[in-house]
Amino acid sequence: MAEQLAIAGGSPVKSDAYPAWPYFDDKDEAILLEVLRSGVWGGYPEPGKYNARFCETFAAYQNGGKAGAHGILMVNGTVTMEVALKALGIGWGDEVIIPALTFAATGYAPIAAGALPVVVDVEPEAWTIDPKAVEAAITPRTKAIMPVHCGQVVSDMDAIVAIARKHGLAIVEDCAHSQGKEWGGQGVGLIGDFGSFSHQSSKILTAGEGGTLLTKDATLARRAHSLIDCGRAKDDAGKEFTFGANFRLGELHAALLNTQMERFEAQRAERETNGRYMEEQLTKVNGVRALKVFDRVTRLSFYRFIIAIDPEAFGGVGNAAVCEALDAEGIGCWVGYESMSDYELFQPHLSRMPVPMQYAKQMDPKSWHTPVANRAAKLEQIYLDENIFRSGKAGVDQAVEALLKLQRHPDVLKKVAAAMAAG
Ligand SMILES: Cc1ncc(COP(=O)(O)O)c(C=O)c1O
Repeated sequence: MAEQLAIAGGSPVKSDAYPAWPYFDDKDEAILLEVLRSGVWGGYPEPGKYNARFCETFAAYQNGGKAGAHGILMVNGTVTMEVALKALGIGWGDEVIIPALTFAATGYAPIAAGALPVVVDVEPEAWTIDPKAVEAAITPRTKAIMPVHCGQVVSDMDAIVAIARKHGLAIVEDCAHSQGKEWGGQGVGLIGDFGSFSHQSSKILTAGEGGTLLTKDATLARRAHSLIDCGRAKDDAGKEFTFGANFRLGELHAALLNTQMERFEAQRAERETNGRYMEEQLTKVNGVRALKVFDRVTRLSFYRFIIAIDPEAFGGVGNAAVCEALDAEGIGCWVGYESMSDYELFQPHLSRMPVPMQYAKQMDPKSWHTPVANRAAKLEQIYLDENIFRSGKAGVDQAVEALLKLQRHPDVLKKVAAAMAAG
């Protein structure tokens, strides 16, 4: 019988499921019961027992096993970035440079701190913040750069650090996807002033919700602890208060992070092996490439693995139709993030985002010039699910086989795209 795409009624390339996420076993059940029975469920006093234990382990892990890094655990990986900026003294009247291709939270955080996010384009191969665009966007009001390390990539941190030093700017790394990554032997999140990690349910070190800030600076760490604990003073003299609120994570979630952390490195290593194998395999597929991982990345890790498609290799259709057809083949995937200018969150007429008069022009998404991010988001970007990379080489081979199968059926893809466009 002639081959048919699964979306058109054929048999899928992968008919059994990839492993489930999140993973849990008896250890997670036991630790949750322990907290339940202790009666100490909340996050006060901050940090709680399980919170402190996790932060110590995770900070040391991300710092290559060395002491000297501090972890501050809070409710999610969005307020982490808001708190980082506030701890750095960044707020009203200040500007923070962010990339156009990331989750909306990276843009929300500066606004929540009272600062203006300045959106710049990403570079064409890794889709990470373009250092040239960063330099061009610097003004006397610029206070920080927020590189984001999406999927398997790491931003060009050598270039970002050089720019930050030259202009006296802070760096807050958005590491929501990046537990386990290293750049030049240094764990990400500890290259700049702060690193922000997410523990939301789809992320690779998860408790359902949660976020951790890492820093090597004890003063910044103390301020962040205060900012998330209603501004309470955390210095020995009890005198350094901040304008804080309650962003504490409860102990049930913190406990779960302890057990998840125990198995994290083994999961990361498995994804790294199979991610590198995927990079190799994709060099043999026309019209599909893995995003560029710079040579300076010394340990690979990823939340999802990002590939870029050339629509011409898929009958001229974009990532949305390819994803739909790939999903039907049993290969879990997602089109990824919108370009910053397309988020409803940043359209004041839709989200009622408050925009101070003097920022009306700069906050108008139409004024942001980000062609690389716009094209990537609309046509090229596909996030492959992490569990494809926890299924041995066979898991990767099936994903590649499905991409090749799709390329053999451009007419079906065109119909899928037309049906999607018609709603
Ligand atoms: C790049 C990026 N930054 C920040 C966040 C925010 O993390 P959280 O959902 O924990 O607030 C996410 C979550 O998806 C993200 O992908």
